[in-house]
Amino acid sequence: MQVLVTGGAGFIGSNFLNLSVPRYRDRRFVNVDHLGYAANLANVAETAKSPNYAFVRVDITDADAVDRLFHDHPPDLVVHFAAESHVDRSIVGPRAFVRTNIEGTFNLLEACRKYWPKGRGLFHHVSTDEVYGSLGESGAFTEATPYDPSSPYSASKAASDHLVRAYARTYGLATKITNCSNNYGPYQFPEKLIPLTILNAIDRKPLPVYGKGLNVRDWLYVEDHCEAIWAVIDHGGPGRTYNVGGNNEVRNIDVVRQICRLLAEETGQREDDLLALISYVTDRPGHDLRYAIDATRLKAECRWTPQETFETGLRRTVRWYLSNKAWVDEVRSGDYRKWIATNYADRTQP
Ligand code: NAD
Ligand code: TYD
Repeated sequence: MQVLVTGGAGFIGSNFLNLSVPRYRDRRFVNVDHLGYAANLANVAETAKSPNYAFVRVDITDADAVDRLFHDHPPDLVVHFAAESHVDRSIVGPRAFVRTNIEGTFNLLEACRKYWPKGRGLFHHVSTDEVYGSLGESGAFTEATPYDPSSPYSASKAASDHLVRAYARTYGLATKITNCSNNYGPYQFPEKLIPLTILNAIDRKPLPVYGKGLNVRDWLYVEDHCEAIWAVIDHGGPGRTYNVGGNNEVRNIDVVRQICRLLAEETGQREDDLLALISYVTDRPGHDLRYAIDATRLKAECRWTPQETFETGLRRTVRWYLSNKAWVDEVRSGDYRKWIATNYADRTQP
């Protein structure tokens, strides 16, 4: 069996490969990535030594290249992670999101339609809970919640979900979709809240909190997300969608405070000195207030339960960033500095 993993040099894709390649030695994994700013082949350095692993550099917005990829490495399973993934970048420059997340997904679906005779193959689409928009103070997203995306990122992911379902209904393509809440863990590019806060705190730089820090996200450790994807591939119903979440709803300000406490415990610094770095800055436009996930369907049909609590997963994450300085130094050079300058320059303290 050949498994094509798109975006396998990014955060979640590389964790997925690191878990899967050693476990499924009878399957061949092909990591497909264009090596954009969030990608790093160092994320899969150990896995790359395995004989059942290969890397192919492809930009999924290039239809001909995707077609060649399917010709040269005919897959039985596609696990589609590749995306522009950061909400703030989608506000600054939405075009890349439309191209990769919508057109790129379309190109992959077209290749599946062309190369897979009826009854062959499975396209697993990795998506986000952000397609559902914002919740108020109560309630949780179910798979029946209407789509109501707020950012160019979530709108592009919503469009890609619709395309995947349309290919299932129209062409009979075998598809599954998972809509997951916020991930955290090793190898996450430090533009997202958790790694940005950890690294800024290590360097004693300001910890930017948007608005009043009262927005709520549901946090899931990345390995629990990867296990959920396998649970759905192995046990999920054809054409079905599954919400994935950790039952860990936390306000942003409390995420940042918890990181300060864990970092103080891990390094012996004074927690108060780290808390003093918290800096409230101008809010994100269209900022969704709250996400929460009802994962009943996934637990009932696919026998999945997360292994990490927020406390244990966050401690593992803090330790990982503390002990991987070479990785951190590499990803924070060049383009990263430009992004930080762009995103935070105009965020004055209210
Ligand atoms: P990431 O930005 O870390 O990685 C994305 C990867 O896709 C990168 O390696 C990048 O080079 C690659 N890529 C981007 N455009 C490409 C293109 N045109 N051609 C080929 N490769 C391309 O993102 P992530 O956090 O690992 O997210 C992976 C997937 O999971 C995305 O589809 C995202 O929407 C989804 N998701 C993420 C989260 C989260 O909290 N990070 C939560 C739910 C769902
Ligand atoms: P982020 O990690 O960008 O994920 P997403 O936007 O996909 O949920 O942001 C998580 C939350 O943290 C979100 O409510 C925005 C907030 N946030 C900050 O308060 N400060 C920051 O510097 C960043 C990047 C995010």
